[in-house]
Order: sequence, then structure tokens, then C-alpha cells
Amino acid sequence: MSAVSFDPTQKLIVLRLRTSFYALRILPDGQVVHVGSGPAPEGNAPMVLGNLDAYEDPNYVWDEGGRRYELPTYGDIAYHHVGLKVSFPEAAAPLGKQDANHLPVRDLRLRYLKHEIRTDAAPAYPPAHGKPARKSGVPRETLILHLRDIAYNFEVRLCYRITPELDVIERWIELHNLTKMHVTIESLAFGTVHFPQGTYELTRTAGSWSREFIPVRQNIEQGETVLSQFGINTGHAFNPFYLVSPRGKTTEHAGEVYFGALAFSGNWALRFEALPTDAVRVYGGYEPTGFGMVLAPGESHTTPAFVHGYAGDGFGGASRRLHAFTRDYILPGFDDGQCRPVLYNSWEATFFKLSVDGQIQLARSAAEMGVELFCMDDGWFGDRRNDHAGLGDWIVSKAVFPDGLQPLVDEVKRLGMRFGLWVEPEMVNPDSDLYRKHPDWVLHYPGRPRTEMRFQLILDFGRPEVVEYIYNALAALLQTYDISFFKWDMNRYATEPGSVAGSAIWQKHVEGLYGIMDRLRKNFPKLDIQSCSGGGGRVDLGILARCDQAWTSDNTDAQDRTYIEDGFSLAYPPRVMESWVTHEHNLHHASLDLRFDVAMRGALGIGTKIDQLSAEERVHYKRKITFYKKIRPVVQNGNLYRLAMVQDGGASVWQSVTPDGSQCVYSVVVIHQLQGHHLPTYRLKALQPGAIYRITDETGAELARYSGSQLMGLGIHGDSRFGGAGCAVRSRTLLLERVS
Ligand code: GLA
Repeated sequence: MSAVSFDPTQKLIVLRLRTSFYALRILPDGQVVHVGSGPAPEGNAPMVLGNLDAYEDPNYVWDEGGRRYELPTYGDIAYHHVGLKVSFPEAAAPLGKQDANHLPVRDLRLRYLKHEIRTDAAPAYPPAHGKPARKSGVPRETLILHLRDIAYNFEVRLCYRITPELDVIERWIELHNLTKMHVTIESLAFGTVHFPQGTYELTRTAGSWSREFIPVRQNIEQGETVLSQFGINTGHAFNPFYLVSPRGKTTEHAGEVYFGALAFSGNWALRFEALPTDAVRVYGGYEPTGFGMVLAPGESHTTPAFVHGYAGDGFGGASRRLHAFTRDYILPGFDDGQCRPVLYNSWEATFFKLSVDGQIQLARSAAEMGVELFCMDDGWFGDRRNDHAGLGDWIVSKAVFPDGLQPLVDEVKRLGMRFGLWVEPEMVNPDSDLYRKHPDWVLHYPGRPRTEMRFQLILDFGRPEVVEYIYNALAALLQTYDISFFKWDMNRYATEPGSVAGSAIWQKHVEGLYGIMDRLRKNFPKLDIQSCSGGGGRVDLGILARCDQAWTSDNTDAQDRTYIEDGFSLAYPPRVMESWVTHEHNLHHASLDLRFDVAMRGALGIGTKIDQLSAEERVHYKRKITFYKKIRPVVQNGNLYRLAMVQDGGASVWQSVTPDGSQCVYSVVVIHQLQGHHLPTYRLKALQPGAIYRITDETGAELARYSGSQLMGLGIHGDSRFGGAGCAVRSRTLLLERVS
């Protein structure tokens, strides 16, 4: 049965998802308005829709006559923010006596032509790397509304692809310039989402380099609240996702959440607009600053996706839907139960001081403790002995590796590990052979200064020859060496964005980046990619369609990382969250237990000087890694319940549980606790009430047995065996398995 229904009498289109709905209506004058969304009615109960008749009187213009356009356009009768602004250089018909000759015309009035349902439609940037997401082969219905301007032959299609089981709708827009003139697009959203009339709060993240993904909750007040990035990476300050909930009513485990995320890694914006009438909507799309797009006669543009949905089971329910959507429909496909490998990365151990012997030493220690993927970080190429030189010259340094990388790769392979390499392909240091040869290949405005950040400039991916050069340089490495992992970095913001592509550079850069990644993966199917941008500056649903995991922050301090993990988990699944165990003395002193307990919540990595550890410490690392391998199928592929977040009470408590509830991993990290204060008991979720669970720690020692209903009703109480007592920073990771 189709999830899309059309009532021709009321001209009402309803999208029905597992627990929610989304409804729109075509008015007699052809305008398409939003009439409702939220929880699906029980049984045959009627849907809660806006008063359909309220939309009949176009003379009533306060608050746009109460009309909530599916796509508000500039001109028409919209006088708030809009999702699409178009400029026509000529009038659609010869000017009459009443017309002054002031062109262009910046008025777009879209009216309904027809609608269709397709199962093969897709937003921009579908991954072309040959590893389609796990469930992307399952046909999904897309409602496509065809709209046209009242006079110009300019068509807009509003697309809604539905994933009913996850209550998710992907929205995108297609523009078709069927006129005979060049049409300028001045601003463009991927979609507009209206929330039911009311007062709301917004949960999102904020941060900076080294402080990414810190959760923030704020009221959406009358006016505009904007999260955006003016650049060609996703950004550290904000991340393109949101959870919007009725003010003060929703908790982690209950209540309504309208969630959303953008699948794009460039200049993006989420603009929340609250009108005086409590009408609240969000525009998700290209950040208008610097945006400009010209469509020649006959040209089209398809936007990336704005993913949004509804959860009736709290913030946790919204996060779990986003996690499942990412695992099943976004990430490059992986087999059932297949997990991300345990990684070693050399950066914090050696920084730029690389040598064959040094790396081999690290690799041997890594293999001995159970690491599966050895990644050599920055400094192996060109004149890259520090961050002043070498970017762009992707040729192994003879000074550091006289015989090339082969001896190291051979040893890593002999030790039974995969080999990975750090790259930063979009960048160039002025002190490099590439720049000396092609100083015009960078983003710049002619005759104007070029601002360096971290001593580097950005290559102009508006030039096809630059994209080709970078593809070939990376492909040559993959042809020469058995490399199965790139840590793909991007370490600056865009300034002076002059390009041969003009203002299309924002899209062209992302297109070039995604294109190189896709081609490399297609031609070298063993290749995995980790997205990194000075830490967590490039995490979004667009990049994750071609990357297997992401680096969430350069801040590897275990205590700080706990905040970052809580925030990251609001939108992104633990499977993609690469976390390293690093040295004991970071910003805070941290025990090995704490460092592992924090890092084991995602895809575990090690970044310590492991060749300098004592024999006792090595045994400890090995035991932890062995334990991690036991719990990681649950951690990486299970459903996450946040039982507590560190900002709320000093402890972050996560429970990952298999879909059938037979196994779970309980992870508690206590950052602040006043002496004499007892932590609450944390009640577990989604277990089988009648089953008995055995609780074990990393040594395999059985700590207790409880029934599912005890664990869900009374919870895990706070004695020290379970990480509950005392007042120092401490943590526990426990495995709960059904035994009967
Ligand atoms: C960035 C990354 C780090 C490291 C350095 C290397 O800062 O986030 O992990 O790779 O670059 O220069």
C-alpha cells in the first residue's frame, strides 16, 4: 500500500509513516500549503489538520493569511524569510502602459501543475562509489509536486522521499529553467518544514576547534535563530542538525521531537523563524551569504537533501531514528554485524617526527595489543617536516622513507593489520612544488591578498584539471601501495573564495570532493575513508555517504570528550564516532580505565606512544582491546539509549542494546560528583522483561544477575561495582547478556 494518499475532493496529500504523518493541500488557486504533521492518529481516528477553510481567503494577508507555504518564494505574498528567491532579467510578456521598465523581475509565484509518485528519485550527490548503503536498494516512494510560475516557464519540483519505518522524509528541490533567459537564483533552501503552531525549544550543538558538538538547548523566540556555515566544510561552530520540541515538555525518553539534518558539507544554513502568531518553521539549505547561481536556458539544479522527521519518544527516539537512518540509508554499505576495526593513529605519538623505524616500532606494539588498522598521520610526503610546507605534493618523502613506504607497508601487513594514511587533498602550502608550478590553482581574487591559515591555501575545485590532478595523485598512492584507509583531513576555513567557477564554487568544491572520494572508492574497493577537518569540522549526512567514520575532535582528553560524545550522539551513530585512547596527562589526568571507557563508546582507536609503555600497561591495553572486540557489535550496531548526559548531572550514562534486547553494553562516565552525593540509579531500556541477564566486566568476572524487569524497573544501582560510588572521576563499561 502506498504511503502517499491523495483526496481529490479536498486536494489533500497525506504522507503516512510508521508513527507519524505529514500533510499538504493544494488550494484552489494552485498554491501548496502545509496543513499538518505529527503523531499518526490511532486506528481510524481523524488526523489533526489545520483548518482547511482558513486558507480560502487570499485577501486576509496578516501572517500570510495563515498560509504555510510548502515553499515560500520571494515575491508572491510572502513577506517573511523565503526558501527560494529568483530573478528574471526580462518580463514574461511585453510591458503594458501600466508597467515601469524596472527589471529584473524578482517575483516567483509557483502554482500546482501535477504530482506523481516515483521510486527511483534521488537528491543531489547520490554516492557513486559502488558500496550503496545497506537498505538503499529497497525502493522508497518519492512524492514529487510539479509547480510552475504563473507566467514564466520556470518549473520547481518539490520532492519528498519517504522512509516510513524510521518516520523520516527526505526533502529536496529541483529547479528547471525552461525560459529562454539566464535566470539568477539568489537564495535556495532544500526544503521548508513547518511545526504545528506553538512554542518550541531547539536542541543542537555548538563549539569550536577542540570543543565540537557541545549540546545546547534554547528557546526558539520570536524572530530568527540561524545555524550556518559560510564555507566549504561543515564547520566546528555548528553542525547541520536539530531537535525541536514543545517548550519544556519533552524529555530524553518521552515527548515529541521534530528532528532534521542536512546532507551537505558546504555552505549550509538552518534558519528557524518564529512569527508573532507562533507559527514556527525552519528553512534548511544553502547559506545565502555568497550564494549565487545562474541557470542558463534549459538548465536545471537539484539540491541535496534536507532529512527530517518526527519522534514521539523523546530526544532519544529522535536520535535513534537518525542513527538508524545513517546506518541503513547513508553510510557506505556494510554487512550485517560487520564492525569498524580497532585503529592505531601515530599523530599524538610522533607528530611530524616520522621515521621508518619509529613507525615500525609503533606498528609492532599496536599489532601485539590487537590493533587491526595502522594509520600513519601527517608528515610522510613532500617537504612536510612541519605544517609550513609540502601540502599538495603527495609523493612519499625520500628524506624520511628512502625506500618509499613499502618496507613499512610490508611490515604492517606481515603483522596482520591494514595500512592507512593521512591526506589533506583539498589544500596546498605556498611552500610546495605544486604551488610553485600552479600558483593560480588556489581560491583567490586576482590582484588581492591570499590569507593563509595554518600556512595553507585552498585548491580551486572549480577547475576540473585541479580535481583531476588530486584524483590522480591519490590514485597513484593506492596503486603503488596496499592502502585501505585514508584519514581525509581539511584544516582551514574558506576566505577570499574567488574561483573560475564564480559563485558556484560553494557547490563545485563539495561536488569535486565527493566526486574524488567516490571515484577512489569505486576504483579501489578496499578503501575506507575517515572524515576529519581539524577534528570534527566535517561531519554531516553528505560526507557520511562516502566515509565510514568521522574524527569528532582533536581534543582527546577523556573528560572533555565525554561532553563531545554526548552531543555527537544526538545526531550521529556511535559506529562512525572514532575515539582514541591517548596519554595519561592530557588537559586532565585520566586513568587508563577512564580513557578506554570513553573511547570504547564508538569506534575505538589508540593514539598513545605505545612503544614506550611498560609491560604491565601493554597487558592492560590488550585486555581492554579484547574486551572492546567482544562488545563492539553491540556498541557499533545496537540502539543507543542515553540514560544520562554529563551536562545534566555530572555523569554520562549510555546503554547500547541489540534490537532483540538480548545483549547490552552499559557505559557510565562520572565527571562531577560532590562528596556525599549519591548518583541516581539508572533504569535500563529495551531489555526483555522476563529474561535473566548476567553482568560481566572486562575480566569476564560475573558481577551480578538481574531480570530484565529489575533492570528496567529499579535500574542499575550506584555502588562501586557499577561505577556508582565515590567522588573521583571514574567510569565503568559492562556487558549484560541474556542467560535465560
Ligand atoms: C588535524 C587533524 C589531526 C592531525 C593533524 C595533522 O589537526 O585533526 O588529527 O591529523 O591535522 O596535521
